[in-house]
Amino acid sequence: MHRVVPLKVHYYGTPVVLVSSTNPDGTTNLAPMSSAWWLGQNAMLGLDASSRTTQNLLRTGEAVLNLAPADLVGHVDRLALLTGSPDLSRHKRETGYRYEPRKFKVAGLTPESSDLIAPDRVAECLIQLECRVSGRYPIENDSSSAHAIHVQVLRAHVADAVRLPGTDHIDPQAWNPLVMKFCDFFGDGQPLTPSRLAAGWRMPGRLEESTIA
Ligand SMILES: Cc1cc2nc3c(=O)[nH]c(=O)nc-3n(C[C@H](O)[C@H](O)[C@H](O)COP(=O)(O)O)c2cc1C
Repeated sequence: MHRVVPLKVHYYGTPVVLVSSTNPDGTTNLAPMSSAWWLGQNAMLGLDASSRTTQNLLRTGEAVLNLAPADLVGHVDRLALLTGSPDLSRHKRETGYRYEPRKFKVAGLTPESSDLIAPDRVAECLIQLECRVSGRYPIENDSSSAHAIHVQVLRAHVADAVRLPGTDHIDPQAWNPLVMKFCDFFGDGQPLTPSRLAAGWRMPGRLEESTIA
């Protein structure tokens, strides 16, 4: 039996990416996002037009995509509701966002220089992809403005902990991505710390009862 349901979001479960980008003053901004998909050495990133990350990517053409493992959930959640942009959109002000230029410090994460591009990598992330922007496509609707940003992977850094020994492959059993599902965090299919992003609108009851971390 199916019902017609006016779903508000379609976030069925995608890995969380911490995107590093270069601010106008040369520092690195860091932002969590999860509307990303992959094809060969390419990724498409769905990013709100008002985000500092979007502006930085379109201005500099560079980004590091740091794939967050599930055990970084607390660090990632500290970045929720923060923006590296001093000019907050009305929507972000009303949602409770605040300006924070020191994202690495606030999240308790360690910056590490990239090889080919300016923005720093996140040392704690086991997979770090240095990328160049190669296209963008507007996504406009009545209430929001966003971009699908096409990036190409220039160089991949992979920690030994998730590499199949002696190969150039990631061990799918060792790699446990932090997954965003309907604005809540999951790892290995299990719910993790409730996300601050979801606090305003999550369905009552269900996750609060089953939270394990
Ligand atoms: C787990 C998580 C996933 C998110 N996914 C996205 C996303 O896919 N696209 C997006 O535009 N914003 C996403 N956000 C919200 C951004 O992090 C938010 O817009 C933030 O202000 C971006 O930071 P910036 O303004 O410094 O770039 C996500 C936030 C969290 C915590």
